[in-house]
Amino acid sequence: MELIILCLWMLAILDVSWTRALDRLLVVSFDGFRYDYLNRSLTPNIQNLIRQSTYSERILSVFPSQTFPNHFSIATGRYVEEHGVLANELMDLQTQEIYKFGYKLFHYNETTVPIWTLNELKKEGRHSGCMMWVGCSMAYQGTNGTYSVEFDLSIPWDDRIEKSVSWFTDPVKPANLVMLYFESPDQEGHIYGPDSPETNAQIQRVDKTVQKLLQVLKAKNLSDVNLVVLSDHGMESVTLPRIINLTGVIGDDGKWLGTSPVLQIYPNKGKTDALYERLQEFSKRNGHFDVYKKQDIPEIYHYKNCDRAPPILAVAKPKYGFHDLYSWIDEIKKKHKLTVTNQTEFGVHGYDPQTLSMQPFFIAKGPKFEKGLKLDKPLKVVDLYGIFADVLGLKASPVEPYNRKLLHPVRSPLVAQESTHLTLALVGYTLASLIALTALFTLFILFRRRQEMRNLGYTLVDKDESGI
Ligand SMILES: *[C@@H]1O[C@H](CO)[C@@H](O)[C@H](O)[C@H]1NC(C)=O
Ligand SMILES: *[C@@H]1O[C@H](CO)[C@@H](O)[C@H](O)[C@H]1NC(C)=O
Ligand SMILES: *[C@@H]1O[C@H](CO)[C@@H](O)[C@H](O)[C@H]1NC(C)=O
Ligand SMILES: *[C@@H]1O[C@H](CO)[C@@H](O)[C@H](O)[C@H]1NC(C)=O
Ligand SMILES: *[C@@H]1O[C@H](CO)[C@@H](O)[C@H](O)[C@H]1NC(C)=O
Ligand SMILES: *[C@@H]1O[C@H](CO)[C@@H](O)[C@H](O)[C@H]1NC(C)=O
Repeated sequence: MELIILCLWMLAILDVSWTRALDRLLVVSFDGFRYDYLNRSLTPNIQNLIRQSTYSERILSVFPSQTFPNHFSIATGRYVEEHGVLANELMDLQTQEIYKFGYKLFHYNETTVPIWTLNELKKEGRHSGCMMWVGCSMAYQGTNGTYSVEFDLSIPWDDRIEKSVSWFTDPVKPANLVMLYFESPDQEGHIYGPDSPETNAQIQRVDKTVQKLLQVLKAKNLSDVNLVVLSDHGMESVTLPRIINLTGVIGDDGKWLGTSPVLQIYPNKGKTDALYERLQEFSKRNGHFDVYKKQDIPEIYHYKNCDRAPPILAVAKPKYGFHDLYSWIDEIKKKHKLTVTNQTEFGVHGYDPQTLSMQPFFIAKGPKFEKGLKLDKPLKVVDLYGIFADVLGLKASPVEPYNRKLLHPVRSPLVAQESTHLTLALVGYTLASLIALTALFTLFILFRRRQEMRNLGYTLVDKDESGI
């Protein structure tokens, strides 16, 4: 009996004296980095990183393959019809209010908990940091992240790296999750097209930035931070003759919003059928875009089951765009002093995510990921939340079992805290209880680890057990 009490007491002591070090994660996004940009012999540092990482050559973005929807799906594990960020701008059908970037756009569904909020809410000394990640600099569930820098393209890339990495080493509130955003090669991809020298220069800049990031992590002794490098969508080229002008077709019967290749169309009262029929007829003649009534938008887009979905949606086929591009082209023509001909290529994204040119990449390195593993099928953007949660030891649902295999079943190091307790306890006992303690401790660790592995869906194999 006495022994049992002693054992229980020891367990209690051990539980307060030893805590797991928090697993750390840095997620980096380079906007609009198409998966096959890595095949242009411009990215030696990223190739080198891939050799040490788990690599998914492609990921399937959510529809529309645009920036706000995808960055928010990466962070929440939800499709747009659930989190409500259907586009970079949209109209609230009840109030007719137009939402652009801002609190309301990102707060359609209050049950949406981005990964940085999930982490912060768990307490346990967890802190999240956001460097310009889309939707990150605002409260969710009434909680802000500990660190945040709002979207500001004037902040130099090197400063973004220094600042966000410094959050991990803060002596008072060290971050265990940091989200870091870079706007290129998306910008140049749009203006000069995906195959331009300007875009290639940005691909090289991204490669050097990855190298710089790894150097900074190493210099700050943060090489054991799990690092995910990814992008949100790809890029496709469009030329002037491939622009479909719907202004005359829509006429005075409705308004449109959004950006090519996806236009949300809001018919005036009583005009839905007439407008849809005109668009449908034009679509048949033109052949380069699809038009849907809300209820007919393909299920596979996970888009229509949302109060924010427009009554009519027009989606251009790859390499085509709509009339919204005219004014944008006029703008960049002036701003960048471009000469535009029928052959001039611009870049557009937002098409069906199954389109190869819309697909970005995923690289994950660190103690929680397999080294040198290339996935044989593309990940989905909505899977990433579960992967991040697993790395951080947070509960999130649902995660497909397939993805769990990416995580290397390692135990995070046990670190001693309040070791004076432990010392006092040991002093009070004879050599015999010391031996008992050791045995107990081993059993305890084994038990905890086994439980942990079971929680993660692993079965321990002999190789791992011999490691203790
Ligand atoms: C790069 O090219 C190689 C050889 O042609 C091919 O096997 C691979 O799938 C390509 N990768 C990408 C990302 O396009
Ligand atoms: C919010 O998300 C939850 C979980 O996906 C879903 O069940 C619910 O229907 C959503 N609410 C709205 C208003 O879409
Ligand atoms: C979150 O931060 C923003 C400014 O960064 C502030 O306006 C807001 O009140 C904060 N919300 C909460 C719940 O702390
Ligand atoms: C780096 O971290 C390791 C453990 O994470 C520690 O043992 C070592 O002392 C640290 N080195 C420096 C220079 O901080
Ligand atoms: C450019 O393309 C349009 C539409 O296809 C055509 O009407 C026009 O003649 C072309 N212009 C030139 C200079 O080729
Ligand atoms: C688009 O169509 C409208 C209406 O037919 C017309 O007024 C406008 O000039 C067209 N725009 C371009 C750039 O062709």
